[in-house]
Amino acid sequence: MGNDKNSGEPNESKYGDATFVSLPLLKISTGKPLPGAIFLCLGHRMVRYRSKDDPIEPAEYDKLVFNRVRYIFFDEVDRMAFDRWVKNTEAADTALEPAVAANAEAAPIAQAAMDQRRAIMDIFSNPKDDKQVAAAVDVSKRVVTEFMRKPFAINNIQQLQRYAKGAVDHSVNVSMLCVFLGLRMGYSHQVILENLALGGLFHDIGKVLIETRSDGGLTGSDDPEMQKHPVLGRDFLDANKEIPNEVKLMVAQHHEFLDGSGYPNKLKGLAVYDLARLVAIANTYDNLISESKLNTIAERCSEAIEKLERDFESKLDAKKLEKAVKILRYSFL
Ligand SMILES: [Fe+2]
Ligand SMILES: [Fe+2]
Repeated sequence: MGNDKNSGEPNESKYGDATFVSLPLLKISTGKPLPGAIFLCLGHRMVRYRSKDDPIEPAEYDKLVFNRVRYIFFDEVDRMAFDRWVKNTEAADTALEPAVAANAEAAPIAQAAMDQRRAIMDIFSNPKDDKQVAAAVDVSKRVVTEFMRKPFAINNIQQLQRYAKGAVDHSVNVSMLCVFLGLRMGYSHQVILENLALGGLFHDIGKVLIETRSDGGLTGSDDPEMQKHPVLGRDFLDANKEIPNEVKLMVAQHHEFLDGSGYPNKLKGLAVYDLARLVAIANTYDNLISESKLNTIAERCSEAIEKLERDFESKLDAKKLEKAVKILRYSFL
């Protein structure tokens, strides 16, 4: 897989006897059995990528996104099955949690979060388009407005968190967590909360800009290429005048730890921007939840909170961490 190999408009293509139909990758839901085999267009060949009933797991999905795969293909005979599947999985992926749906005060926040998810999906799929960044900024401001209008409408941030689709959902989760924690920690200025929402949303945007290695694979956070993503993200946002410097700092520093063990600059203590420390807490927490092997979201959250307290005390801002742990613990009682 190379960059931009799958870009271009969706179409139907004939290969031998078969006709293939393209489907935007973003329409594919992760973790759910596929209704038919899917193919990638590599060079001028269709290569079978997954068989019927295989799921695409979030980590695999992210690899495709980061490799700039924009379209997958299926055999025309499966068209009806794919249409139905996309409709059903999309409905499930965007359904509000029952507790949120039943809470009229929380619904506008949840709706804004959903729109933010769509906006960041668009950027991940086409990072070169400035208009999409502007749209993500607008919707993030709306998230903050809705949160400030009813700051206690959502007591349980889990209700807004989703774990289906890798980096897209992670970005929205971190953004929501930053605003939720920021508000409860006493940051009450709208602009600061907006910056937190944007810092959370864009913190991993650099991952989509990493050049693919010749073997096509990117491994975990230990990969030196992957460790460039905070800087690439900051540079990406630098090109956009709407993005405040504070947001760029949060993006550049979200993997710095106060004991100097983070990356890319091994910054220590006060060298790490105050609000980047909050993004680091939200990011670490959401990653711990995703990595957890436990079954329910409640179990995963409480395990993640324990690990935050136990393993990250010297790395994350101690005062903020103490407050965050209290807020998160209280929020899902
Ligand atoms: Fe990151
Ligand atoms: Fe992250």
